[in-house]
Amino acid sequence: MRVLALELTAFRNYAALRFEPPEGACIFVGANAQGKSNLLEALALLSTGKSFRTSREADLVATGAPAASVSARVRTRHGEVVAQCVISRAGEGARKRFFRQGRAVRYGDFLGGVNAVTFMPYDLQLVGGPAALRRRLINTALSQSSKRYYHDLAVYAKILAQKNALLRAPTVDRALLDTYDDQLAPVGARLVAERASYVRRLGAEASDVHARWVGASPALTIRYDPAPPIADEAPAAIETGLRAAFVRMRPAELARRGSLVGPHRDDVSLSLDGEALSRFGSQGQQRTAVLALKAAEYALLQRATGEAPLLLLDDVLSELDDDRRRAFLESIGSFDQAFITATDPPVMPPGASASLIAVISGALHLSHEVAS
Ligand SMILES: Nc1ncnc2c1ncn2[C@@H]1O[C@H](COP(=O)(O)OP(=O)(O)OP(=O)(O)O)[C@@H](O)[C@H]1O
Ligand SMILES: [Mg+2]
Repeated sequence: MRVLALELTAFRNYAALRFEPPEGACIFVGANAQGKSNLLEALALLSTGKSFRTSREADLVATGAPAASVSARVRTRHGEVVAQCVISRAGEGARKRFFRQGRAVRYGDFLGGVNAVTFMPYDLQLVGGPAALRRRLINTALSQSSKRYYHDLAVYAKILAQKNALLRAPTVDRALLDTYDDQLAPVGARLVAERASYVRRLGAEASDVHARWVGASPALTIRYDPAPPIADEAPAAIETGLRAAFVRMRPAELARRGSLVGPHRDDVSLSLDGEALSRFGSQGQQRTAVLALKAAEYALLQRATGEAPLLLLDDVLSELDDDRRRAFLESIGSFDQAFITATDPPVMPPGASASLIAVISGALHLSHEVAS
């Protein structure tokens, strides 16, 4: 897919921007604090409906303005999509509204219109960092390709929040706790089944990409580690396992005043020739594995949606050495459009069409096209 036009109003340090991004690689270069990441954040917002770096959404609205708007006209294989997100200040926080083809839509119906894979320096911690980072990768990917997954995720989070609030109450109503566990089990089981299937495909793809880069050994293996572990991927079997785990963990949950088991505690483990990458892998090996994982995420989203998603690379190319950068970009290869930020123009692989765009205090200046 390709963004034909992007419009920002009072979004972070962009007072008003209208921009028609060229196809191929758009490389945004500029000194620090000019608005490079803000631009990618705006594009990511149109795909996931969320900021990739803050949960304080009022921060997205330019200082002093009442509301921000991000909108884009995007060419997709289903025709042109006009997606818009409006963030208005509301009290201490903010309120978001979503529009598709000019009509207000719910968040769940907004998702899937614009697909993007985002890669930023924080993702380089995907191997050794917190499990939440790995869950986020899976949730973001599956929410873009499956409405039902997104819906289940939202329902699960809501019931879980109620269960946690109940566990923190001075006296815990056991019957209500049973009700919450009863509601969590089927929806949790569907999430686990989807994740198991996704991680299996992601792992196979990432192993292939990795093998192309480094050869057959050491082999990268990615395994889904749900809590509790599963023997069978059928939702009914998973649900039975979850129910049993809720019963088993009940005393501990009451004692710890929090929910201790379920898909919100899932993890994904990466290993090289059977050894945990986070403990045994060198920095370079961990980095290569992350690149393979992101390339695989891109390939799977492309397969699920039938077209190349947008590729948003925030400051990440400069973190990579020449070989890894080339390998990564070549493995993605087929993007229609990529948005890449850097403080210095990166070296692109031969054959890639790239445009350099200077970013200076919230304004863009198309400087030139680099050889294609
Ligand atoms: N709500 C806001 N209103 C006005 N300005 C903002 C707002 N939020 C962030 N900014 C400003 O936007 C500027 C640019 O931020 P951005 O993260 O896009 O920079 P960058 O070009 O990616 O820099 P770096 O190279 O350091 O990553 C910062 O100076 C920040 O203070
Ligand atoms: Mg930045």
